[in-house]
Amino acid sequence: MPVPATPGRILVIGSGGREHALAWRLAHDPGIEVVMVAPGNPGMHGVATVIPGFDATDPAAVVALARERRVELVVVGPEGPLVAGVADALRAAGIPVFGPDAAAARIEGSKAFCREVAGAAGVPMAEGAVFDAAAAALAYAARLGAPVVVKADGLAAGKGVTVCATLAEAEEAIRDALERRVFGAAGARIVVEAALRGAEASLIAICDATTALALPPARDHKRIGAGDRGPNTGGMGAFSPLPDLEEAASAALVERVHGPVLAELARRGTPFRGALYAGLMLTEEGPRLLEFNARFGDPEAQALLPRLSVPLARLLLAAATDRLAEAAAALGIGGPLLPAEPGATVAVVLAAPGYPARPEVGAPITGLEAVARMAPGALVFHAGVAAGRDGGLVTAGGRVLTVVGRGADLAEAAREAHDAAELIDFPGLQRRRDVGRPLPAPAGAAR
Ligand code: AMP
Ligand code: GLY
Repeated sequence: MPVPATPGRILVIGSGGREHALAWRLAHDPGIEVVMVAPGNPGMHGVATVIPGFDATDPAAVVALARERRVELVVVGPEGPLVAGVADALRAAGIPVFGPDAAAARIEGSKAFCREVAGAAGVPMAEGAVFDAAAAALAYAARLGAPVVVKADGLAAGKGVTVCATLAEAEEAIRDALERRVFGAAGARIVVEAALRGAEASLIAICDATTALALPPARDHKRIGAGDRGPNTGGMGAFSPLPDLEEAASAALVERVHGPVLAELARRGTPFRGALYAGLMLTEEGPRLLEFNARFGDPEAQALLPRLSVPLARLLLAAATDRLAEAAAALGIGGPLLPAEPGATVAVVLAAPGYPARPEVGAPITGLEAVARMAPGALVFHAGVAAGRDGGLVTAGGRVLTVVGRGADLAEAAREAHDAAELIDFPGLQRRRDVGRPLPAPAGAAR
């Protein structure tokens, strides 16, 4: 059999900064004829054919679109379409797709299932258990003692996890989910877990049914405010590499976490083909798994994809068709880590006012041309944007843009990202100024 080829016609499903970064990276691969994005956003026109007004969670519609446009590889960005069975429908239609079937995407869609699979695969996690009745959950939380973590089982738009400092808070969180049903059906079951301490790391691997090849580790800034204050968001920024997770440790984690989980999912008859994202806590006792996602992270993808020095389209097609080991060998990739450019990247999210609770949208975005002119090395990936009346862009979602800086080290990459971000404006713009770097001491602070 010949070495796995490059797909000429690619369809990316999704509309955020992650999908813009995917489209941008794929469009740079040799041998690419066209990258399409559905539904995409108007900030993506430079790199892709945008197919707006498309329901990406409708499996039949995605299959019809892929057929009509003679697509050779579909890359699914967000979890929604995966959990809705978009990848199942494409596979059934014989169209290669990078992204797991719904049964394997449950590793993200159900935290109870995640614990079950991780447990069977021998992946270390925080001590925890699954409950559907408040009394038993409360008793268990009391036994673990505060701080304790309460998680809605299902997808809750990033809001389903409460890290509770006291048992009183834990009781609130348990009753909110199980009795008051604030997360709807997603919170009808919960996981109660011991709180772990340490730094977090996102280790994302491109996988076929048996092989995992990891991107460099990244760290996400989840809280809205500098210094990790305020509510959780989808992610306000990310950087790579991590000073506290060396290559050898990353490689060991892929062997210990991603590999056994792929084997366990395959053993159950639900093989995983897609991006397997391990959210890890680096504790004093060693790394512990917090969660799996069934996709690339956002904004981790914006920080990581520019660092990869591999033909991504070819690898994703190989993963979709269970030929990843073969493709890796053909590309001279020896271990479980994908080769990356030296240096660092820092990705800074520009968010709308009111995000994450109630983003205000519709404001004109200025300064994008200034970035192209004055910070040509920086990358700008578009997410919550819409076309304005005067031909410019207006804000249209919580996370509006991701600005990525590249440099020889984190300090240089952070400087480029923040300097470029400084050129962009819209009313009420929120940006964490500490993404990728320590917070500057407030004026007059003691040294
Ligand atoms: P998850 O969706 O499970 O990753 O949880 C979202 C966030 O909650 C994580 O990124 C952590 O910051 C925090 N978290 C989740 N589980 C734990 C835990 N066992 N201990 C401490 N923090 C946690
Ligand atoms: N940035 C975290 C995520 O994509 O889930």
